[in-house]
Amino acid sequence: MLEPNLLDQIIDVAAVAAYKSSLLKGKGDKNAADQAAVDAMRQKLNELNICGKVVIGEGEMDEAPMLYIGETLGKSKNPRIDIAVDPLDGTKLAANNQPNAISVISISEEGMLLQAPDTYMDKISVGHGLPENIVDLDEDVKNNIKNLAKAKNKSVDEICICLLDRERHKHFIEDIKSLGAKLKLISDGDVAGSIFSALETSDVDMYLGIGGAPEGVLAASAIKCLGGQFQARLKIQDDDEIKRATNLGIKDFEKKYYLNDLVKGDVIFCSSGVTDGDLVSGVKLRNKEYETETFALHYSQKFFKKVKKKYKI
Ligand code: FBP
Repeated sequence: MLEPNLLDQIIDVAAVAAYKSSLLKGKGDKNAADQAAVDAMRQKLNELNICGKVVIGEGEMDEAPMLYIGETLGKSKNPRIDIAVDPLDGTKLAANNQPNAISVISISEEGMLLQAPDTYMDKISVGHGLPENIVDLDEDVKNNIKNLAKAKNKSVDEICICLLDRERHKHFIEDIKSLGAKLKLISDGDVAGSIFSALETSDVDMYLGIGGAPEGVLAASAIKCLGGQFQARLKIQDDDEIKRATNLGIKDFEKKYYLNDLVKGDVIFCSSGVTDGDLVSGVKLRNKEYETETFALHYSQKFFKKVKKKYKI
């Protein structure tokens, strides 16, 4: 189990990354906004009394200067922690000062998070209180919607499906429209997109489609805390990706991952708003201080709350 006091520290990590990144929002430079979040997260994590290892990061050792997979962080020998980060999910959103850019981190005990390569991943998620596997990654989208509608005691035209607005999802979008269900198309940021499917305050009933694998493990961390369901499969596209996956110990590239394959045991998840969004508000700058809003979750403590914090600049 992860010590409850880690939650507050992880909130601070997400919050400072969001703040540093927010200073560059609307400047049209997505790499700079991302780098600011990476640097801030790394510095803050190195101040913590943990022995952390990055299992989901900003690329592999030879291509990312910081927060690469395998990098160790923290100033103690214990507790040994796995760390998954997406310091800025929605780099374009932040660069263009559009809604829904967030800084994301999740942690678990050592060995409990899937070490996913930086490839695509096919994903589906729904919220809590539903029969197990009510939707299935391998089921036809129309059947998934019909089954979900029945289980939720809703009509099909009330069901809302969130997807990344991409050409590769055209067939899903056409099927959803022809069934008369509702779409929520997002331009970027599928960590939040997937989380919407498990939030009672959101009108999204299901998340579907192909996005980043690292984002998939992060979203699964949150969905686990919220009691929802999540299934995924890597979309390995070429020899280079086969090599990356193999280096991380993945042997079966067709494996269907369920929530507990992606996130075993206890997990803490935090995402802080960079820009205002549906999940959390963005950073607010005031006289010599800034305020952040973080969606903070701790599985074993059944903790899920939006936490506002003020920090001195
Ligand atoms: P970045 O913040 O790294 O730009 O990722 C944004 C994002 O929308 C993710 O949330 C999503 O998983 C991925 O890109 C989808 O990739 P693509 O833009 O190639 O469809």
